[in-house]
Amino acid sequence: MTKPDKNAPKKTASSSIWGGRFAGGPSQLMTDINASISYDKAMYKQDIAGSVAHATMLAGQNIISSNDLDAICAGLATIEKEIDEGVFEFSDALEDIHMNIEMRLAELTGDPARRLHTARSRNDQVATDIRLWLREAIDQLDNQLAGLQEALLSQAETHTRTVMPGYTHLQTAQPVSFAFHLMAYVEMFGRDRGRLADTRKRVNESPLGAAALAGTPHPIDRHQTAQLLGFSRPMANAMDAVSARDFAVEFMAAAAICATHLSRLAEEIVIWSTDRFGFISLSDAFTTGSSIMPQKRNPDAAELVRAKPGRIIGDLMALLTVLKGLPLAYGKDMQEDKEPVFDAEASLSLSLAAMTGMIADLQAKPEAMRAALEKGHPTATDLADYLVRVLDMPFRDAHHVTGKLVALADSQNCALDGLELADMQAVEPRLDKAIYEVLSIDSALQARNSFGGTAPLEVEAHIKAARAAFIK
Ligand code: ARG
Repeated sequence: MTKPDKNAPKKTASSSIWGGRFAGGPSQLMTDINASISYDKAMYKQDIAGSVAHATMLAGQNIISSNDLDAICAGLATIEKEIDEGVFEFSDALEDIHMNIEMRLAELTGDPARRLHTARSRNDQVATDIRLWLREAIDQLDNQLAGLQEALLSQAETHTRTVMPGYTHLQTAQPVSFAFHLMAYVEMFGRDRGRLADTRKRVNESPLGAAALAGTPHPIDRHQTAQLLGFSRPMANAMDAVSARDFAVEFMAAAAICATHLSRLAEEIVIWSTDRFGFISLSDAFTTGSSIMPQKRNPDAAELVRAKPGRIIGDLMALLTVLKGLPLAYGKDMQEDKEPVFDAEASLSLSLAAMTGMIADLQAKPEAMRAALEKGHPTATDLADYLVRVLDMPFRDAHHVTGKLVALADSQNCALDGLELADMQAVEPRLDKAIYEVLSIDSALQARNSFGGTAPLEVEAHIKAARAAFIK
């Protein structure tokens, strides 16, 4: 018995939507490679909203009758309900969400449905849908980012005097407060929100009515559909309107940057929660156990947030690669835009939710932070600055003298403020006991009161300003 050839053209009737000129149907493989319904059904609400706006405009322009409009709107409402309730039957043969809905509308209403596609193409339709979808996604992500900033701000508010090592090269550098460190992320996520808001401006333009690529002879009103859908304006060039996907690339670039910021915080959470550091403990809600080692408490959520940029950056690369060298106007290649966009959005949204939960729940361990700080001579720069300010030493000399004192402390296995004054004076005779105040961690923190510095009063002022700027 011969196996059925998957590649053979089907003898059945061709697609009833575009099949006028075809004798046979597409092969199963053609249907498989062509169909996008498995993922673009996520845009059904946007597709329906776009169709309602288009039909409303067609009726307003007397291109269809008001009876047609009523039938179309009623039919689309039924379809939306069917999809909401999970009873709609999606078909691969109908390729995508646009044709699945249109065919069902034809079943429900007959002729009015067949008039809906006047002065419209799937090319402008799909571009409209994805822009509407992305606009909403951006608004939700912005909300989530505000929630994360809120969680960071709340932690910061209780820790403006909790000292910890600030690092460069992951080596102890200078004392900072835990609040100060967290506030760095509040700023980063603020810029991420700015990038999304900027992207949103270019997302929020209407391609609808561009038709296939060149506009339409029907007397449509693209300004009206743009307005009905809340777009800022109709796109000025129909060919650009159906070909442009830079808005989606831009979204994924913004998402990739934001995910990268999240991964830096995630990595710090991983480090801070190790038993070596012990700067924080994570809640049970955001840790997992090991199936073999009963003592383990693994920061899996942080590790996954650390990993997510891998796929989001991949999503960005995927679409850029699809678009590179693609001639105008629409090409089916562009159907490959949706999965990366959806994946980037879902991955970022999940990362934001997990990070917000981790930050809100984490417990800082001030004693462990202070203990770590006491080891790395974090006030050495303060000593050098003191030599400059009080003894009028050139900074390079002060750096050298301080280096000698650090070496001395290391040789005696003590902190700088554990050195005897006489020992210090052997290195620099002009030192007196005021130096012990300079070497104290808390005064070093207070001293950095330049704008944007780690001094508690500065950080308190920053928290206030950030709250006013970022949280509605
Ligand atoms: N499913 C298609 C996409 O996502 C819709 C546009 C199809 N247009 C066309 N001319 N075949 O891109």
